[in-house]
Amino acid sequence: MRTSKLGTAFNQLDHVISEHAALWQEKPFVSKQLAWFKYQPALKHDLLSLDDQTAHALHRDPVARIDWFRQRMPELCDALYNYSPEPIQAHTDLSIGPFDQVGIPGRKWLQVLAFAKSLNKINTPIIDWCSGKGHLSRVVQRSMKQPVHCLEWDQKLVDLGSKLAKRDRLEIYYHHQNVLAPLPDFCAHPEHTFMALHACGDLHIEMLKQVAYYRSKALILSPCCYQKTKDQQYRPLSMVGKKSQIQLDRSALQLAVQETVTASQGEQRKREKTQRWRLGFDALQRDVRKTDQYLSIPSIKNHLLSGSFASFCQWAAKERQLTLPDDIDYDLYLRRGED
Ligand SMILES: C[S@@+](CC[C@H](N)C(=O)[O-])C[C@H]1O[C@@H](n2cnc3c(N)ncnc32)[C@H](O)[C@@H]1O
Repeated sequence: MRTSKLGTAFNQLDHVISEHAALWQEKPFVSKQLAWFKYQPALKHDLLSLDDQTAHALHRDPVARIDWFRQRMPELCDALYNYSPEPIQAHTDLSIGPFDQVGIPGRKWLQVLAFAKSLNKINTPIIDWCSGKGHLSRVVQRSMKQPVHCLEWDQKLVDLGSKLAKRDRLEIYYHHQNVLAPLPDFCAHPEHTFMALHACGDLHIEMLKQVAYYRSKALILSPCCYQKTKDQQYRPLSMVGKKSQIQLDRSALQLAVQETVTASQGEQRKREKTQRWRLGFDALQRDVRKTDQYLSIPSIKNHLLSGSFASFCQWAAKERQLTLPDDIDYDLYLRRGED
């Protein structure tokens, strides 16, 4: 069987990513001595020599970051960035209603427009998988003049979306539906185009399975949050994927969406603060437990970050049934988190 261009690119990337697994498989915070330190001593030295300002600048700028790595590991970077997908062409003149953007955050609206613009003309009914309120559906319905069926399990979003579609007299039908449960009969029609924007983990995997099962005409997908899956290990669906040597658990899957390129400055600052506080607590718990081992803590809710570092540590300790002494010098541990 001939391998497609995408299949060839997949195999090349698969090879290089698996060969350098030690560089990306390590979980953040768990170990101070990373396995790759031994076989990449120069890289270790250069990374640890970066001052804070340069490290932050590289963290925030993916182009500068790749350049920095390319100077040190040219072959690896060439192999990783050798393939780039065909640029996405704007195929469709969008028809946008005067109120379509109302109430949608700016970034979300840009994503909806970019997704809709990249579509070829669709001449079939469309199923919007996990549609939310159906912001994308409204733009696509106006532009393609095809009926759209929104599948969404949050009744509130179904009600709000239905109201908007009715107001604008759009041919959009909302279905209160759990997409992981048996689907309504109309989905089985092979002439449908399945479309999903930001359907997380198992939700988009399920769409791919259904599309294959129904032999549907077309699918358009921009997935996200690959780690939101019930499986401990990722199970590839494609033939080339099934041959891959790479084992991806949830934290490895999360790497794909961890980069901060699309995050606002506020979100980036929040992420950096979270990291400093996690590291500070980690230093503290190692001292209190007198053991040099990482102790995982649950995900951190926003309200915890608006309090003090001391209350954060007390919350984390309680979560892990750890008793903290009264005389802790929290400023010291905060500084250790920042170091
Ligand atoms: C990240 S949002 C994306 C919404 C929309 N596609 C967009 O891009 O604006 C994911 C949506 O999936 C819905 N959802 C989550 N689990 C679902 C399920 N099992 N069945 C149907 N919808 C689900 C959520 O309620 C949410 O509206």
